Amino acid sequence: MNPILNRAALLAGASALMFATAPAHAADKIKVGFMLPYSGTYAALGTAIENGFKLYVQQQGGKLGGREVEYFKVDDESNPAKASENANRLIKRDQVDVVVGTVHSGVAMALAKAAKDSDTTLIVANAGADAITGPMCGPGIFRTSFTNWQPAYAMGPVAFADGKKTAITVTWKYAAGDEAVKGFREGFEKAGGKVVKDLTVPFPNVEFQSVLTEIAAAKPDMVFSFFAGGGAVKFVQDYHAAGLNKSIPLYGSGFLTDGTLQAQGPSAQGLMTTLHYADGLNTPRDNAFRADYDKAYKLAPDVYAVQGYDAAQLMQAGLAAVKGDIGKKADFRNAMRSATIDSPRGPFTLSAAGNPVQDIYLRKVEGLENKVQRVAVQKLADPARGCKL
Ligand code: PHB
Repeated sequence: MNPILNRAALLAGASALMFATAPAHAADKIKVGFMLPYSGTYAALGTAIENGFKLYVQQQGGKLGGREVEYFKVDDESNPAKASENANRLIKRDQVDVVVGTVHSGVAMALAKAAKDSDTTLIVANAGADAITGPMCGPGIFRTSFTNWQPAYAMGPVAFADGKKTAITVTWKYAAGDEAVKGFREGFEKAGGKVVKDLTVPFPNVEFQSVLTEIAAAKPDMVFSFFAGGGAVKFVQDYHAAGLNKSIPLYGSGFLTDGTLQAQGPSAQGLMTTLHYADGLNTPRDNAFRADYDKAYKLAPDVYAVQGYDAAQLMQAGLAAVKGDIGKKADFRNAMRSATIDSPRGPFTLSAAGNPVQDIYLRKVEGLENKVQRVAVQKLADPARGCKL
């Protein structure tokens, strides 16, 4: 046989062999499922999480762990009654590799159960439900946001140091509100204060007149509140319109004023809140993130955008360790759990339960910014009560 032909045949055979033995995964896309609210009071929060996630992926040339990313989406409407069905659209129907979601704690608990039952990796990019990184924790469950306890607890000693001795709490009646109030009470009463009354309205109700009347009559030193999204806009406006902010200062977890300032306008000026992100951090990492986000979306980023961005960073850390082979589930997850995330909020690690150990900032509303005042509590870890990991 002609030796040149022979060599060509050999090469062709070798390349066919290479194709046959090349790992199948290299050609496949990584499937990411967004289970987020795209309608209702939390709609803007869901969009910000998706925007943040996609920004990081774009910065990596559209890839994570060297593989292209394919997105699947479900609007969960912040409706716990539809949560299991919506989760299974992504898990069973679309067979995603990782679910990123969601905003509402009640929906997130059903999502975490569906993820655990199917051994699907879940990155919670907002919902603070303490149980997810408490009794429901598991090797495939991660969070890049916070527990409801974290920012609320941090406000307790801050408000007491500010001279407040008695507080009324007000929130929506569901897991996030209940847990935020509990966290605040723990921090405030440990410092020496007293919560004298807890007021609630059903989620996502925005009829606040009767709770405002009750607050005005009781005259506590302060009010602590948990509201977010569209509901936070309305609550802050109503509190201001009732003239209460002049005599009874309003405090809250920072969701009260994050991503909402444009709509709240003058009614939010001067409000003090605690959160794991703030405006004016002025670090090179945050400045670069903010410039890129603004360029991509013509919007200032908020805490939700940061949490989405960091969900993508966390996935990247896991995928880099397994060179894109997400089938190596245990290695992928172990690498995520031990990662240090170079977040715009400041670097953070995950606890054994999978929740960020992070600084909580005290912020004050000035114009359209939640301006950082100082770190209220450094490297605050959720107690992860009930997690056996
Ligand atoms: C929650 O339900 O856990 C929740 C929702 C919106 C926020 C924060 C927490 O801004």
